[in-house]
Amino acid sequence: MPSYVADIGIDFGSDNIRVYMPRKGVVIDEPSVVVFHRETELMLDVGDRGRELLLADPGSCIPVRPLIHGSIRRYDAALLLMKRIIWRVAGGRGFAKPRVAVAVPSCLSDVEARAWITVATEAGARGVVLLEAPIAAAIGAEMDILDARAQMVIDVGAGVTDIGVVAVGEIVLSDRVNTGGRSMNEAIQKHVRSEVGLVLGDMATEDAKIKVAVARDGFEPRCALVHGRDLKTGLPQQAILTTEDVAGAIGGKIEEIVEGIRCVLRRVPVELVMDISNCRVVLTGGASRMRGFSDIVSERLGMPVRTARDPEFCVIRGTGELLSNADPRMTKAIKSV
Ligand SMILES: Nc1ncnc2c1ncn2[C@@H]1O[C@H](COP(=O)(O)OP(=O)(O)OP(=O)(O)O)[C@@H](O)[C@H]1O
Ligand SMILES: [Mg+2]
Repeated sequence: MPSYVADIGIDFGSDNIRVYMPRKGVVIDEPSVVVFHRETELMLDVGDRGRELLLADPGSCIPVRPLIHGSIRRYDAALLLMKRIIWRVAGGRGFAKPRVAVAVPSCLSDVEARAWITVATEAGARGVVLLEAPIAAAIGAEMDILDARAQMVIDVGAGVTDIGVVAVGEIVLSDRVNTGGRSMNEAIQKHVRSEVGLVLGDMATEDAKIKVAVARDGFEPRCALVHGRDLKTGLPQQAILTTEDVAGAIGGKIEEIVEGIRCVLRRVPVELVMDISNCRVVLTGGASRMRGFSDIVSERLGMPVRTARDPEFCVIRGTGELLSNADPRMTKAIKSV
């Protein structure tokens, strides 16, 4: 019987919350949203059920995303969401308070780390450990993190891009850039507003981006019909969004991510430069799914790059693997925050 470091693993992302339980695998994969009633300000629901309420009756709902760029911005909403999630996976009758491992972005300040521990504890956790996203992502991407040779992993999420260099089970160097899929959506909204005079909602933007976006030339162009509100008349209006429009809007965001990676590469200790030059950079996180994303990163860095399988699940898979791993060379990563 393995001795578990924690009973559940949580990847609380800017867009999605995912939960892992030993022997069960990923049991929750839902939007990290808390929906409040517009008038009473009471919480209506969270996650999938919150989104359903929002779609059914947007007029009486206020959706709140507890995190911005991977950091807690609405403590009340983060606590409500965490409480619901813990209750759902470990709750019901005979509620036994679980020990929880939470994957967090790299380079957290002490204040941020304490905020995560307080949220999880107040939400019902009996014990809390934090785990930096790059190490979890590397494990979930099936990298051999115990290898003495340094390797690079980049998790491109919705709110934050975590960049890590890992070797012998630890993060040697890491940093984060506050750019991800959500900043790309905002760039698309800004572009459509100024060029077409149309105000796009978050869901319409997200759907159109996933359908048409490319990170570089050479991919089949596509287009999407988007519905929004005309800036001048205030009336519902529609427009066609093309691959070219979107590529122009998000190009700067992709460059910000590439520049963030370059900054980390410049800080790699000279003893590890050779390892990094010979390694294949691994991309994880939902935004790395964009067509051409791995190609542009590879071209800009002049290094081979691969995207992990099911990239948005790497952090939660890696967190889950660490929960049940008794190898002290692996579990030392858990104490690293
Ligand atoms: N095919 C796709 N093309 C472009 N972007 C995509 C695609 N699929 C998912 N994304 C983007 O991936 C992001 C979600 O990824 P993920 O679930 O890894 O983020 P998160 O963990 O919630 O956020 P973070 O780690 O930044 O706090 C969203 O911004 C979404 O738009
Ligand atoms: Mg994430």
